[in-house]
Amino acid sequence: MIKSDRLLARLDELARIGATPQGGVNRPALSPLDRAARSWLATAAQARGFALYTDALANLFIRRDGRGPDRPPVLIGSHLDSQPSGGRFDGALGTLAAFECLETLEDQGIATDHPVEVVAWTNEEGSRFEPGTMGSKAFAGKAQVEDWLAVMDGSGARFGDELAATLAALPQARPRPIGVPPHAYVELHIEQGQILEAERITIGVVTGVQGARWFNVVVDGEAAHAGTTPLSYRHDALAAAARLLAQLPPLMVADGTARLTCGRLVVEPGSTNVIPGRVVFTIDSRHPEPARLDAIEARIRAMAAAETTARMTVERTLDLAPCRFDPVIVAAIDQAAADLGLSRRHLPSGAFHDALHLAAICPAGMIFVPCRGGISHNEAESIVPDDAIAGTEVLLAVTRQLAGG
Ligand code: GLV
Ligand code: MN
Ligand code: MN
Repeated sequence: MIKSDRLLARLDELARIGATPQGGVNRPALSPLDRAARSWLATAAQARGFALYTDALANLFIRRDGRGPDRPPVLIGSHLDSQPSGGRFDGALGTLAAFECLETLEDQGIATDHPVEVVAWTNEEGSRFEPGTMGSKAFAGKAQVEDWLAVMDGSGARFGDELAATLAALPQARPRPIGVPPHAYVELHIEQGQILEAERITIGVVTGVQGARWFNVVVDGEAAHAGTTPLSYRHDALAAAARLLAQLPPLMVADGTARLTCGRLVVEPGSTNVIPGRVVFTIDSRHPEPARLDAIEARIRAMAAAETTARMTVERTLDLAPCRFDPVIVAAIDQAAADLGLSRRHLPSGAFHDALHLAAICPAGMIFVPCRGGISHNEAESIVPDDAIAGTEVLLAVTRQLAGG
């Protein structure tokens, strides 16, 4: 059994780092607040005598040795960064639940064959520096830190500089090579959707993750006087952007599984009486089938090319192929939930997660617990404590089984 009071107290403590007035968190990746969260967790780890490691992406690992020190570790964890108006549990629950599992193994003197490591992946959200899941993607060998050093956030801060500052802020974590494949990876997360709550089910046994693509669309028109310029003379970048964006909901009607979102739109020069000369906006596209992701991308590009009043360029900034989790891990999670007498159902993930990249290099899986109203990426995110505890117990049972302890 875990110490549930300890887990819940830690969730409250972490939520204070970057707390927002509305009860959520704003802890951007590699920011001073992200560094504070890492240091706080590292201090707790050192107090228990666990070793700390980090890699070129500043992924943070907390290790408890196994009987066979040379065996690959069972990796459990999630992320500490948040959306700008994020909730208290997205990433935090999975990271602290994993740490609670490590402490429980230690409290109870449970020896495991494989080492067990807690991981906090760098920049899962991708809201400060695009794309998301940088840490796990590089860990899985699908990218290198050099690919992103020059990426800038909205205020002009460079990813490379913020990464270096984050690594320097945690000198107690020993550097090690990135991406030595683990024995297995398991991540607990809130569902971020409505299914479990609606069906009154405690444990989601996640079968896989749908695909995601992000696009940056730049619309170049011509700034002009709002009061004097007749329609036939206008090259209104915002009007052009609006025409394309208005086509996204009908696309979702035509394909009930597609999810299309414009979450950011910047209008320049941004003056009431100036016709917009330039607009930059994003599109987040999700679908479980690669062919549909292709078709939707082709449609977006065709709409952009067809615009005659302004020039639109479409750049893909993130491409995550759908994944299926390892049947052995899926079965282990299902069995652990059953053994604990918990209600459960299989379901795919609509959100992307670091586990998607890990699935490419080791057996991987995820456990979901309900969140109220399915609300997430929102300061109002909330969970029932008993569900968080149940999810952590399942994580512990699966970790023990995989690690041999
Ligand atoms: C993860 O944060 C996602 O956007 O799916
Ligand atoms: Mn998350
Ligand atoms: Mn998220």
